[in-house]
Amino acid sequence: MAIKTNQIIAFVTGANRGVGKAITEGLLEAGAIKVYAAVRNPSSVNQLIEKYGERVVALEFDLTRKDTIDAAAKTAGDVNLVVSNAAVIHFSSPLDADALEGLQFQMERNVYPLIQLAQAFGPILKANGGGAFAQMNSVASIKNFFPFTGYSASKAASYSITQGLREAWADQGTQVISVLAGPLKTDMADSAGMGEVASPPSLVSDGILAALESDDFFVYPDPMAQEFAKAYSPYAKEVLDIAR
Ligand SMILES: NC(=O)c1ccc[n+]([C@@H]2O[C@H](COP(=O)([O-])OP(=O)(O)OC[C@H]3O[C@@H](n4cnc5c(N)ncnc54)[C@H](OP(=O)(O)O)[C@@H]3O)[C@@H](O)[C@H]2O)c1
Repeated sequence: MAIKTNQIIAFVTGANRGVGKAITEGLLEAGAIKVYAAVRNPSSVNQLIEKYGERVVALEFDLTRKDTIDAAAKTAGDVNLVVSNAAVIHFSSPLDADALEGLQFQMERNVYPLIQLAQAFGPILKANGGGAFAQMNSVASIKNFFPFTGYSASKAASYSITQGLREAWADQGTQVISVLAGPLKTDMADSAGMGEVASPPSLVSDGILAALESDDFFVYPDPMAQEFAKAYSPYAKEVLDIAR
């Protein structure tokens, strides 16, 4: 096991709402020492700070500003779990006039910062004993969900990079976790019209904690994801191991 729950010092992006907030609360309720809440607007985590006191530390973080990623890494040198969660969704089919702009918008937020985060925090995780890095991917990483074509493509790219990080960090003992989630009850799911079928986002922190315990790469946190896993999991295990 990479880290024991009561030793977790986490850095969670997008910790102010949705899945990121649920992960932050889930980790703290489970006994984590501290969570750096990496958010665009530090006052957006005031409620969390009121509830958990000094165990929540707000840090400015913008997916489109590498300077905020680097500054956050300088401050959060004691982190042993990074949760790369913040992302955006944009609706466009491949034939829409704004399909390319939409894809670029999502790649710049859902993919490129993942690499910047990994490069900024990889040495910190190594220095802190290896630790773990969890990336919020999606069932849309493995199946394109029309009309969220560009979103799905960006999540496929982030999932691919997550696999690359697993290889890149194997020697430094950093556990990489890919959360392949189905619809979770957040603003994003509501805006995608999935609110009715969405599951509680708290399932994600449960899944990450279980993966830390079992040293697993995959987390399928909710019923829809588990349905996908029935078909996908045996295939993925084989394919991912072929060239290792
Ligand atoms: N909800 C689902 O059904 C679902 C399913 C599978 C995977 N996921 C994945 O789960 C993750 C969280 O999704 P969610 O449903 O919680 O989304 P959400 O409700 O839309 O929340 C998005 C979070 O990302 C932050 N964010 C957006 N743009 C940012 C930027 N430029 N810089 C920094 N932070 C930014 C937001 O901060 P602000 O408050 O400042 O906007 C917010 O904290 C995403 O990676 C998503 O792809 C979600």
